[in-house]
Amino acid sequence: MLFVVFVSIPLLLFILSHKSNVSHPNLPPGKMGFPIIGESLEFLSAGRKGYPEKFIYDRIAKYSSQVFKTCILGQPTTVVCGAAGNKFLFSNENKLVTSWWPDSVNKIFPSSTQTSSKEESKKMRKLLPNLLKPESLQRYVGMMDTIAQRHLEDCWEGKQQVTVLPLAKMYTFWIACKVFLSIDDPEHVAKLAHPFNDLASGIISIPIDLPGTSFNRGIRASKWIRKELVSIIQQRKVDLAGNRALRAHDMLSHMLLTTDEDGQYMKETDIADKIMGLLIGGHDTASAVITFIVKYLAELPHIYQEVLKEQMEIVKWKRPRELLNWNDIQKMKYSWNVACEVLRLAPPLQGAFREAIKDFNFAGFHIPKGWKLYWSASSTHRNPECFLDPEKFDPTRFVGAGPAPYTFVPFGGGPRMCPGKEYARMEILVFMHNLVKRFSWEKLIPDEKIIVDPIPIPAKQLPIHLFHHQKNI
Ligand code: HEM
Repeated sequence: MLFVVFVSIPLLLFILSHKSNVSHPNLPPGKMGFPIIGESLEFLSAGRKGYPEKFIYDRIAKYSSQVFKTCILGQPTTVVCGAAGNKFLFSNENKLVTSWWPDSVNKIFPSSTQTSSKEESKKMRKLLPNLLKPESLQRYVGMMDTIAQRHLEDCWEGKQQVTVLPLAKMYTFWIACKVFLSIDDPEHVAKLAHPFNDLASGIISIPIDLPGTSFNRGIRASKWIRKELVSIIQQRKVDLAGNRALRAHDMLSHMLLTTDEDGQYMKETDIADKIMGLLIGGHDTASAVITFIVKYLAELPHIYQEVLKEQMEIVKWKRPRELLNWNDIQKMKYSWNVACEVLRLAPPLQGAFREAIKDFNFAGFHIPKGWKLYWSASSTHRNPECFLDPEKFDPTRFVGAGPAPYTFVPFGGGPRMCPGKEYARMEILVFMHNLVKRFSWEKLIPDEKIIVDPIPIPAKQLPIHLFHHQKNI
């Protein structure tokens, strides 16, 4: 039986993928690789070696084209590279393409298979605005500052050495738990945080559900988290019914109290999946950015000094113990340019998929309906046509008008652009403020390797030596 499954399905897919080549002679150049897995191993392993853009650059060079075909994560896919490709995909959302996530995502978030991902995203976008609009976020600055201070006092103060990535995750996860679920008991936050690491690796993995695979660990983690979230949701329902929870105070209450066009409330499992998506989006990405900020500031002391200067100017005008506010965030211009340069060189999301909803042509090639398309932040950001001397860390690129349209795309673009951008900006800047105010630091592993799985991280999670400032700074 196993033999039949392992031999006949790949054969069928192989024949089908080659059939589509034959029926569409003008497909982009490229090769489809092995049956089922296609070129997924090369795609994933380029990331794990720390150079996700290499998969793309090798093929651009080989086929001398800004667009090529491949088969990744079980799907015939056209990869578009550079600003023109990004513009095309971002401006044709729901006209020629629609958002698509790999099978692994649908298995990890099963409720999203009940309706199309387009429908799910529409629902999500309806729910998010009140909470993630800059105007509404302003009231979170003080809360983020309080959490940053508590986190640094508990986990960094008094230490000579710390490992940055797990601590950055603790900080961003704590904020996400507070904003979305009103949970801020550190023990409860820590219990929820643990399985999220397996979840992120499982999302962008080869969808083979066997013990020991990333995909299998991701599914198990998602089941555990969903169960936890459903019990939190049930408790909140009881609290709301007994008026013990503030109405629409956080994302969870907002979801429980909002009905769709037919007056239906969302199901508990759907709410759990949405909250899980926000907890992933809301902490893994920003914690990776914070970790790379710490890395680059250790490597580039002159940039650290400029950030420190800007942040101490803000401190100068504050009363003792006064929390940061929205105006302070607006003053952190240089610090945000540094964060943007980190987002350029180490974008947490390497890119994302779309699906062709009809046949169309791009760059003179035929893209058949149903094919997947992939746009890539990492390869655009290191493309010398988009950024002069792309390997150089230079925050001044973001001064004035900044990079050309569609070249700097860490948050995507068009209608699917990340709705959490402003939230991420705030929690990153609040952290930078509190960190440089207290410490300078050195890397303990000078040439620590970077891996991308699926988010870029230093292979040993960035251990550093901390130096506490004298109290009079
Ligand atoms: C530095 C941090 C972040 C980065 C780099 C980032 C990046 C991205 C990118 C590139 C996309 C678009 C994917 C596509 O084109 O299909 C996206 C979508 C999304 N992000 Fe973020 N994100 C970050 C933080 C956040 C945060 C903090 C939240 C939530 C609070 C969030 C929630 C979402 C959601 C819900 C979507 C899906 C939007 C849709 O499908 O319409 N993200 N993010």
